Parts: sequence; C-alpha cells; structure tokens
Amino acid sequence: MTGNPFFSLQDKHFLVTGASSGIGLCICRSIVASGGKITGTARRGNLLSEMVRELGENNASFIEADLALDEGIDKIAGEVEDIDGLVYAAGISKMSPLKFIKRQNLEEVMNINYFSMVLLLAQLVRQKKIKKNNHSSIVLISSVAQQVGTKSSLLYTGSKGAMSAAGRVIANELSSQKIRVNTIEPGMVQTAMASEMEDVLSSETVEKDKQKYPLGYGTPEDVANAAVFLLSDASRWMTGQSLTLDGGRYKLLD
Ligand SMILES: NC(=O)c1ccc[n+]([C@@H]2O[C@H](COP(=O)([O-])OP(=O)(O)OC[C@H]3O[C@@H](n4cnc5c(N)ncnc54)[C@H](OP(=O)(O)O)[C@@H]3O)[C@@H](O)[C@H]2O)c1
Repeated sequence: MTGNPFFSLQDKHFLVTGASSGIGLCICRSIVASGGKITGTARRGNLLSEMVRELGENNASFIEADLALDEGIDKIAGEVEDIDGLVYAAGISKMSPLKFIKRQNLEEVMNINYFSMVLLLAQLVRQKKIKKNNHSSIVLISSVAQQVGTKSSLLYTGSKGAMSAAGRVIANELSSQKIRVNTIEPGMVQTAMASEMEDVLSSETVEKDKQKYPLGYGTPEDVANAAVFLLSDASRWMTGQSLTLDGGRYKLLD
C-alpha cells in the first residue's frame, strides 16, 4: 500500500445514509476510493442500484428504506452487517418565517434530520452493530446554519442544532467503547438541496450570497474529503467535535 496508512479505509465497512444523491453519494464514492466498503441507504432504490453498479458489488451494497418511519429504521439496523462506523447524511431543508410554522412542519424536518438519526444510532448500538474498541467512527452531517441565525431557517437550523448537540452527548456515551462521534457543519454546497433553495430565492440573492464566501460555495467532494478524514484512523484522537467547512464564510469578515 502507498500513502499514509492512517488515512486509508482499507478493510473498513461503513453505513451511509442519504446515499442516493449529493453529499451522501459523494461520501460513498470517497470511502470506496479510500479502500473501504459501504452499505448505502435512502428511499430511491433506482439511484442506489446505480451507485452499486458504479462502485462495484464487492465494494458497495444498499438497503432501500424510509428513515422517517420506524419500519425503515428497523430494516436498516436489522439488515446492515457489522460496521466500522457510519455517516448520517440524510436530511431535508425547509424555509419558513416563524409566524407560518405549524407543528406538522416542525415534525417533518425534526423527524428525518434529528429523531431518525438518534433512533438509528440507538438501534445500531443496541444490536452491537458498530464494532467496539476498533477505532470506529460516526460522522453526522449537520450545518453551519446551526451556528448562526439566518432568517426563515428556524425549522432546519433547529434540527441541525439538535443534531450537533446530540453528537457531543453520544460521543461521551460511546467513548468507553472507543467509538468516536464528530459532526461536519458545512456552508452552502452545490447539490440538489442547494438548487432547491436557489429556486426559491432570486438569482440576485443567490449571487449576493455567493460573494460572501471567500472561497466560493463548496462541492460535495469538499465534504466527502473531511468525512474520510473523520472516518479514518488519522482522526483517532478526535471526538465530540464539530468541523466547520464554509470556505471562510463566517470567520473571515470584512
Ligand atoms: N447542500 C448544502 O448546502 C448543505 C449544507 C449543509 C449541510 N447539508 C446537509 O447535508 C446532508 C445531505 O444534503 P445534500 O445537499 O446532499 O441533499 P440531497 O442531495 O437532497 O440529499 C439528501 C439525501 O437524504 C435522503 N433522504 C431524505 N429524506 C429521507 C428519508 N425520509 N429517508 C431516507 N433518506 C432520506 C435522500 O434520499 P432519498 O430521497 O432517495 O430518500 C438523499 O439521499 C443533509 O443532511 C443536509 O442538511 C447540506
């Protein structure tokens, strides 16, 4: 093997949620490119089988399931083989000013972005699917939104704040098994989710927002590279942390 072995994912197997598109799909590709194997999960089975075709059946498999339902979570936790960790990249984004928010809107976003993350991890831990004392690593894809107070982002920001806070608690609880938990908090990344937001906002607003990123908007690869680092033994002394990836958006101010 060439290169620094600490960064290799050779002989490791990870579960990736949100594997059908965007950041989750790119993380699947990067894990396999780093020598690891993945089981990807999402609702769109056609996209998951394309992903397996692309990455090869020896490296990738999939479980088609809806994380918003208890049956979906049971199916994933029951079917996945033992793992060296996972990436929770499934998520949805909804924008709404406070005055229009109803319980149903809160439940929809919290359900997939937060409740399902907690319930899936609880099941995997109960079923002892995450290897103990073996440098296992859990990566939660949160958002830099949870560090700031963007107007109309309450539904999404609240769910990601809950995720980041929970990550620290879970990191503490799993540390005795040497299972690490870290979050990645990206700014705007060019994916279907970002395009949906761009459809709602005027192109002028999007252009103005892009100007605020000294290094421009991110790509899924930018997030995937950080995820590979956090999954690998190169980050073996790091747990309970949040890694901000925002091209300098919120720290480098004029
Ligand atoms: N793009 C950004 O600017 C940005 C910035 C910060 C953080 N993030 C976070 O990064 C993560 C990935 O986002 P993305 O930009 O890659 O968006 P995306 O392309 O829309 O991907 C979202 C993924 O979540 C899955 N998903 C949604 N609802 C699900 C459900 N009920 N059950 C199972 N899977 C479900 C989708 O799969 P199916 O539809 O096939 O089920 C899809 O694979 C999200 O958590 C997002 O909040 C994104």
